Amino acid sequence: MGAGLPATRTQRHEPMPETEILPANETGLARAAELLRSGRLVAFPTETVYGLGADATDGTAVARIFEAKGRPRFNPLIVHVPDVASARRIAHFDSTAERLADAFWPGALTLVLPLKPSAGIAPLTTADLPSIALRLPDHPLARDLLRRVARPVAAPSANPSGRISPTSAHHVLSGLNGKIDAVLDGGTCPVGLESTIVATQPRPTLLRPGGLPAEAVEACLGARLGVAGSEITAPGQLASHYAPNARLRLDANAANPGEALLGFGPVEADLNLSPTGDLVEAAANLFHHLHTLDARHPGAIAVSPVPDRGLGRAINDRLRRAAAPRAG
Ligand code: TXA
Ligand code: MG
Repeated sequence: MGAGLPATRTQRHEPMPETEILPANETGLARAAELLRSGRLVAFPTETVYGLGADATDGTAVARIFEAKGRPRFNPLIVHVPDVASARRIAHFDSTAERLADAFWPGALTLVLPLKPSAGIAPLTTADLPSIALRLPDHPLARDLLRRVARPVAAPSANPSGRISPTSAHHVLSGLNGKIDAVLDGGTCPVGLESTIVATQPRPTLLRPGGLPAEAVEACLGARLGVAGSEITAPGQLASHYAPNARLRLDANAANPGEALLGFGPVEADLNLSPTGDLVEAAANLFHHLHTLDARHPGAIAVSPVPDRGLGRAINDRLRRAAAPRAG
């Protein structure tokens, strides 16, 4: 693989201007909001750790998060909102969610809830899950910034994949300088541990221990939390990923009769992830294009080779899993 493939953005190592360090004042906040609203990446402080933010409704912006972090997979990201009203526009709140939000928001609790398709969240943000992880941070700068952006902001911890989470702007820069557009310097994060993640359905379950003790959540609910991977055993029950109905045939150079071709690079295709071979664009289009082609009920979806580097690794990981034989 590789010969004849188009040059890609990650391959060319386009120089990015040095990361801007923004002060925690009116000027810095205004600049951070402006960058986020134009699809750029801005790291910002929360009470847990620094998040690497992007507009959660902009698939290309979200793809840049995965590129900057060097994540080999498209994990679903936590989406940050400035208030409960914004959260309600994005997800359905059951009575458990109401109770937990009432007790612990703003704070170090993330709730995984059923996503409202009308919310306009880019499929890449949730890794195409029907649920979404939402958090209302308790940090004055984060909340001020989120209000100014006035759009949901996806933000994983602002560190390269596999490195420890950053609790200062200095940590952020030591891992991501030159790979992100800016960091809003708000000093040290008081909690220093990621948020606790709880899914409310099918029953209240701890998905990740974190800054809010699970005991506090249990005391609020008057019940023990399920633990992901133990009581809830059916694979995919919590994280049921969309897989196309159509069979996928990878590394295809052309479509066979009855197949639809999902292209990459300069090929004639039914839909193209990126005609110019840009992996950021391809990542942003991946889930949408798979859904669109699948809805045409082709005999199979043939997929052009995608280079296995940079974001291409996460794209290929996802394609391979969608192509894997499955029961039923
Ligand atoms: O403290 C924090 O939570 C930090 C700060 C920046 O807010 N954020 C953070 O985000 O840790 P992130 O994107 O790295 O957390 C992602 C994790 C995933 O690995 C997964 O465990 C869980 O959140 N998650 C996100 N969406 C999910 C979903 N729909 N279903 C199940 N788990 C989900
Ligand atoms: Mg992390």
